[in-house]
Amino acid sequence: MSLFKILGLAIRDPARFKVLIDAIKGTQLYANIVVARALQAQLNKVAELSEKKIALEEFMQQNNFRNKSLLLELLALLEKDGFVKIKKDDFVILKKQIVEEELKKREKKVAPIVLDAFEAFGDYTERALIERLEGVPPASFDSNELRVLWNVALRGDFYTIQRRDALNFAQLDKLAKRNQNQPIRILDFGCGSGEGTIQILTFLREKNIPHNLEACDISEGLLEIAAEDEALEEDIYFFNYKERKPKEGYYDAIFISQVLHWPDDPVQMVSDLKSYLKENGILFGVQSTFSKRLYQIDLFIRLLGAKGFPEEKEFYRWFEENDMNVRFDPATYTFLATKKK
Ligand SMILES: C[S@@+](CC[C@H](N)C(=O)[O-])C[C@H]1O[C@@H](n2cnc3c(N)ncnc32)[C@H](O)[C@@H]1O
Repeated sequence: MSLFKILGLAIRDPARFKVLIDAIKGTQLYANIVVARALQAQLNKVAELSEKKIALEEFMQQNNFRNKSLLLELLALLEKDGFVKIKKDDFVILKKQIVEEELKKREKKVAPIVLDAFEAFGDYTERALIERLEGVPPASFDSNELRVLWNVALRGDFYTIQRRDALNFAQLDKLAKRNQNQPIRILDFGCGSGEGTIQILTFLREKNIPHNLEACDISEGLLEIAAEDEALEEDIYFFNYKERKPKEGYYDAIFISQVLHWPDDPVQMVSDLKSYLKENGILFGVQSTFSKRLYQIDLFIRLLGAKGFPEEKEFYRWFEENDMNVRFDPATYTFLATKKK
């Protein structure tokens, strides 16, 4: 099904298809490089041993690592790249050393769309990876350095193109017509640093859709960038969702892009969002679902504190449990959900 949709995209929109493939290949390559860099020093020590081999437990003890399942995940990635070979309870280094030059060479093959979004995260992710191996929990989304990195990432094409797909998918002009050209009330939920909010605003203006646009997040730090930097001149009402909950039955449309894999209970989040919608309101946006091709990006966001992408079946369950219909495009990860009548 998913493959069929992706091929459909290749025929319908070859340029978008190329971006998709660049992004998938690029994130796979880049995440592997980050993993190799993060573990370079520890692995190179093993490479100096006469047999180039070490027991997993010993390697963990030497490096104060506590999270064995994560270590195995990371070693499996390095195994695919030909750096190590895992043998039951130990592993062998296959190269003399992991050298920066080789990693740099690999990095040259990573598409710009990926580097634009994630290169800034490189050092941070290497440190985060070691901390997760040591059993240290992730920092909050808006801890100082992280909010700047997210701001860079969310500005890039990687996220912008996904949001554009979702805006087109939702056919907001039809919604406006149904509203008899009364301003549609629209909320950007989990707006981050506001790039998506500005994108919605631009889209509504281009389509001449009358609107009242609001945006919220739980991150004080990102909201600050949104309201005082990205959208300073604009008539958008930003609010902190931790402090204020929207009115029930109020919005014509709620947009939510790459947020549902962050909370502990996405079913509850969908339920809350449904309650803020008018009876015929729409909930739409972007949500990546898990597949082999997104494995590395899923790992990356888990290292940063997300719960990980849902399987497609799980994604549908979030809406079924809330008595909502949902249409989902697995090629672009855009979706549109409505209340069941
Ligand atoms: C990957 S960012 C996406 C930001 C934005 N939607 C975009 O597309 O640019 C995920 C956002 O979800 C927000 N978030 C996470 N958990 C949330 C929650 N429980 N309620 C509201 N926002 C949340 C984070 O603070 C962050 O801004």
